[in-house]
Amino acid sequence: MERIQVELGQRSYPIIIGEQLFSQAETWLESLRLRRVLIVTNDVVAPLYLASVEAVFQRLNIPFDHLILPDGESHKTLATLERIFARALELNLGRDVTMVALGGGVIGDMVGFAAACYQRGVPFVQIPTTLLAQVDSSVGGKTAVNHPLGKNMIGAFHQPALVLADTTTLNTLPDREFAAGMAEVIKYGIIWDPVFFQWLEHNQDALVARDSAALTYAIRRCCEIKAEVVAQDETEQGVRALLNLGHTFGHAIEAEMGYGSWLHGEAVAAGTVLACQLSAHLGWMTEQEVDRVSSLLAAFDLPLAPPPSMACADFLPHMQRDKKTLAGQIRFILPKGIGHAEVVAGITEPQLQQLIDGA
Ligand code: NAD
Ligand code: GLY
Repeated sequence: MERIQVELGQRSYPIIIGEQLFSQAETWLESLRLRRVLIVTNDVVAPLYLASVEAVFQRLNIPFDHLILPDGESHKTLATLERIFARALELNLGRDVTMVALGGGVIGDMVGFAAACYQRGVPFVQIPTTLLAQVDSSVGGKTAVNHPLGKNMIGAFHQPALVLADTTTLNTLPDREFAAGMAEVIKYGIIWDPVFFQWLEHNQDALVARDSAALTYAIRRCCEIKAEVVAQDETEQGVRALLNLGHTFGHAIEAEMGYGSWLHGEAVAAGTVLACQLSAHLGWMTEQEVDRVSSLLAAFDLPLAPPPSMACADFLPHMQRDKKTLAGQIRFILPKGIGHAEVVAGITEPQLQQLIDGA
């Protein structure tokens, strides 16, 4: 069992990582002094894990209800959020409710945002069940829904009270979803920790085989890095932006291709390669370093280039709406070697055309 603390003063909370957590989750939930719980999940995760999670609240003697939403990124919308509010109001839930997000990043982001808004804010617990959610989205309090004009455009910062990452749940994750999570794992090595990147290179076979010890180490290291970054910069005024490596391009791919067509992690993988190629063009990365990044992503069958149908002109409107864009200037996260990255503005349209269109 691993315990990592996210240090945010009064809003600090622990991330618990381990196997078979649901059979012993009382230990951590008890300390939250919960009075009433609304578990929100989706129709893929519910048949797998809802009963085990409800059993914990039963053992704790805490009244609970649940809501099962339709699965998928295409449902990460204001309309779905309404369903959470409606259910909470139908059940007459007051400000003493704690919402529980049981699922991947889509459920976590939506439930976190619902908890931020419901009756001006109630607590919530993250129970992430995808690799991506366990290494990234469940930690740090970014919550949001998509808008047809942009990814994660409507949201709030709202920290969870607890994150419970049961690594056993990853056994049922489809290969494509597992790989998408690995894109975010690899991201941490590129922006923050060259030793971790090397460890990933050496352990890629064990990770592809979902070896439990290797996975637990990778999840722990990612959560340590994320906790450190979030503690330094909760609301992304500076260093937290680095966690968006590959996302400026990636969000554009997700929105342009239709939410859910390219998985978030797949779009981030292709975006990461573009960011590395841009860095190489600026002389900040060697071709050999770009190849190391591409090879590691390829080991998990992740895409290394954007969809051929997308030209630079298709990226630009999305990137101009990116949350990092300041005074009309698109800002990119660009690696400087492996293990360090910077936020960069001033990349010109011809440079982007050359990168994306090869023009
Ligand atoms: P997801 O939530 O759609 O989950 C992927 C798929 O796996 C879904 O079909 C889901 O139902 C299914 N699933 C979940 N757990 C399962 C399990 N244990 N076994 C079998 N199937 C399971 O996608 P995701 O990759 O977890 O999250 C992507 C979302 O996270 C995007 O919307 C992205 O914007 C967001 N995100 C947010 C942050 C943040 O900081 N808040 C960071 C990164 C990504
Ligand atoms: N996933 C990016 C962040 O949490 O800031």
